[in-house]
This record gives sequence, C-alpha cells and structure tokens, in this order.
Amino acid sequence: MTSTNILCCPACSGELQDEGSKQVCSNCGTAYALEEGVPNFVIDNGGIDESEIKEIRELIGTMREMRGENLSVIDRTSLPNRKHTKARYLSELKGLEDLIRKHGDAFKDARVLEFSCGAGRGARIAASLGAREVWMADIVSPPVRYCLDVLKDAFPDTSFQGVVAASDTVPFRDDTFDVLFIYSSAHHYPNLLEFLAKGTQISRNVFIIAEPADLGMWQKILEFFNFSTEYGDATTDRIDEASITDAFKGSNIQVKIRRCNQYFPKWFDPLGNFYPFYRAWFVLLSALDHILPKRWQHSMNIYLTRSK
Ligand SMILES: C[S@@+](CC[C@H](N)C(=O)[O-])C[C@H]1O[C@@H](n2cnc3c(N)ncnc32)[C@H](O)[C@@H]1O
Ligand SMILES: [Zn+2]
Repeated sequence: MTSTNILCCPACSGELQDEGSKQVCSNCGTAYALEEGVPNFVIDNGGIDESEIKEIRELIGTMREMRGENLSVIDRTSLPNRKHTKARYLSELKGLEDLIRKHGDAFKDARVLEFSCGAGRGARIAASLGAREVWMADIVSPPVRYCLDVLKDAFPDTSFQGVVAASDTVPFRDDTFDVLFIYSSAHHYPNLLEFLAKGTQISRNVFIIAEPADLGMWQKILEFFNFSTEYGDATTDRIDEASITDAFKGSNIQVKIRRCNQYFPKWFDPLGNFYPFYRAWFVLLSALDHILPKRWQHSMNIYLTRSK
C-alpha cells in the first residue's frame, strides 16, 4: 500500500488528488494544504479550547529547546514537564507493563499509527517493539515534523510518516493499520466515542495507554497528600470506562479495560535517580494492582480488538 491508498478525505472518505502544494478531495472538493511535505487535515483548529492551546504551546516550546540539546532518543521523545529520570522511566514502564505482556507481539512488523504523537513517545515505543511502518498524527504540525526528524535518525530500519489530523478529522481508509496507539492523549478528545468508532474501522487493534480514570472522592484525598501521578499536576478530564464498554456492546469489537497504580508522589523527587528505591516502589505498586480496589487505581489502559 502507498500513502495514496492509505489517506482519504476526512470529511467524506473521497480520494485525494495531489496538486503539488495541496491535496484536493475529488469528491467534495475540500483542499488540504501541505506544510513542509506534511498534509494538514485540521479544520477550524480541531475545536480545541484555551487550556489545550496552552498545553500544546508549552509542548512546542520545549521541543524547540530539545532540538538544540544533545539528548538520548528517550529524552527527546519524552514530554516537556517530565524530564527523564528513573522515576519517569518506571512510571512509563508501569503504564506499558500490561500492554507489552499481553499485546506486545501485535507491534512486530506491523503498520502502526500513533495518534496525538506529541514528542513521539508512543512512536518510539512502537518502533522499539518492532513496528515496520509508523505513522504519526497530531492536531498541530510542529510535533509531527519534530517526531519525523528525531525518529528517522534513531530508527533507520523503520519507515516513519506524518500527518496533521485531529480526533474529528481522521484521514485514513478502513483496515489500514494493525495497531492504532494512543499514549496519554485520548482524554483530550472532544468526542472520544466517535473517535473510537472510527479508530476500530481504520485499525484492527486500538491500544490506548495511561489515561486518567475517574477516581471520585479518592482523587481529593490524593491531592490532599500531594500525590502526583503519571499526569503530573495536570487537572485533566477523566475517562468513564462504562461508556466505552456500553458503546461496543453486541459489536465485533472486544473491549478490555485494565486499571493500574502509577503513583509517584512528588515528595519522592529529592531521591532523584536512586534506582533501588524506585524499583522497590514499582514492585510494590505492581503488587497493589492485585489487592487495591479498581476504583483507587488512577491509570487506565483500554484495548479494543476487532474479531475477524
Ligand atoms: C499529553 S500530550 C501526549 C503526547 C504523547 N502521546 C506522549 O505520551 O508523550 C497530548 C497530545 O494530544 C494532542 N491533542 C490534543 N487534542 C487533540 C485532538 N483533539 N486531536 C488530536 N490530538 C490532540 C496534543 O497536541 C498533544 O501532542
Ligand atoms: Zn471529501
């Protein structure tokens, strides 16, 4: 498959004609500009609000700084407010533990799409798990261009491609991907269920990792004790798992939701990179996954798999 038969008009699924500086839908006539070779499918800002714009600006600012620094690929693809420490590394691993154990093989030689790539953490993970072709999409273009630069150098054997697309302008044909991978971003989508319905058409597997789950009163208690999570200090929307399970009831999509503990209290920070301590905390959290009530576990992985 070439990119011409992977991409289509997000509005009507029409075929796109390449007209040099833009791609034009042969069905509805909508034109999509090419920005430094990356097609942009986002119309009207993708409906994002002021707080989202602030977060995205910060992300772009830090990516600009990271370009100039001599950093490892893990540092380059980490989020700005999460400079790479042992604690962050273990926090990432904690979110992925279940995915890698149960679905890691799905990435081998696969065509993967990371939606909302940011600095490219998910794309980097997909490439390390053996993906053959990795597509990256984000609602704004600087992250996509940044990821293309950084990842092409770091993984010469993987093919990387990028598009600018929002959760409501998905420009891919059905059955294009083996895996659609979303890392810590789906809680930003204005209409997650609509996006998931589309996601399960374009990809056989949809793996959504490390999303903030609804904690109710428990959240207030954690905040009182100054516990930070994978999401740092961000006050963020939280995903309601019942609505996802209900949306796919009776369909050919299997839904598995796995909650886990990823707490790394802020007052651990002075211990910096003291690995044995974080390692012990990681093991404790993994044990607590089996003991504590699900509703106390703030982090959520969602796996949607289409049966043949
Ligand atoms: C918290 S960052 C996560 C980035 C990356 N996946 C990671 O884990 O390092 C959230 C990302 O979602 C993107 N985003 C926000 N709203 C979006 C939307 N409606 N559609 C697509 N991407 C969106 C932002 O631009 C940002 O890159
Ligand atoms: Zn169209």
